[in-house]
Amino acid sequence: MASVKQRVAEAADLVTVALDELLPRADGPESRLTEAMRYAALGAGKRLRPFFSIETGKMFELDARSVLRAACALECVHAYSMIHDDLPAMDDDDLRHGQPTVHRAYDEATAILAGDALQSAAFEILAHPDTHSDGAVRAEMVVRLAQAAGARGMCGGQMIDLLGVRDDLGTVARMQRLKTGALIACAFELPLVMARAGEGERHALMGFAQDLGLAYQIVDDLLDLEGQEADLGKRTGKDAAKGKVNYVTLLGAEAARDRLALLTEQTKAHLDPFRERAEFLREAVDFVLERRN
Ligand code: IPE
Ligand code: MG
Ligand code: MG
Ligand code: MG
Repeated sequence: MASVKQRVAEAADLVTVALDELLPRADGPESRLTEAMRYAALGAGKRLRPFFSIETGKMFELDARSVLRAACALECVHAYSMIHDDLPAMDDDDLRHGQPTVHRAYDEATAILAGDALQSAAFEILAHPDTHSDGAVRAEMVVRLAQAAGARGMCGGQMIDLLGVRDDLGTVARMQRLKTGALIACAFELPLVMARAGEGERHALMGFAQDLGLAYQIVDDLLDLEGQEADLGKRTGKDAAKGKVNYVTLLGAEAARDRLALLTEQTKAHLDPFRERAEFLREAVDFVLERRN
């Protein structure tokens, strides 16, 4: 079996090629918008969520083309969330993946519209009959993605983040689960819906995904404090400077690392019921959580 690194790279290539086909092009003045969408979605990116969907699709022996479409839809929502996260009204960042953020490369209005239109594109891709032959399955996937992205998912988490709720680890955990965890969990949920997986498998994989999402965000917060801008392709040291509250700013790096270690074991333990079928996911946990960029 190829290494996790190779598998992530292969998934990333597949998604980039598919997104290039799926994303709209335009000739008129609105081409500025479609170019900004492409700039955000087709540029460098780890494509971790698509990787999780594609690998989970393999685990359930799903049609690869269908899963790829679902993965692209999710990546569109992720790309939109990043464009808006970087806006001056939110984190005010000028660098992402080593490139100017969308509002820097274009302008704020274009960045807002590119985010909006990427979100629309996501649902258009997901609801298309090519994604799944059964309309009921497609409808459920649409609901799941909408929930993961919306007020009780990513957007809700972003709201808590921006409010900077202090001194309450419970709220911080909830914020992290929503702002990052929801879309990561959705990467597993979409293939689970397609597979019409049973309650037991669903429960185990969603527990896994939720802990993975929380761990992922703690790594992101540690990297903000300790990582190198050159590795990360984005500014560092911004969370403390902006008064952000997260595990690292609240507990300190050392205690956050301890929690991360515990959480990593807990994350993997969710996979026990899948035995060797989930071996790639166990490897992926280490790969994702030991990342330096
Ligand atoms: C962003 O979290 C989460 C979402 C966009 C949903 P961060 O603000 O910590 O992400 P980075 O550090 O800018 O990548
Ligand atoms: Mg943010
Ligand atoms: Mg940010
Ligand atoms: Mg961050």
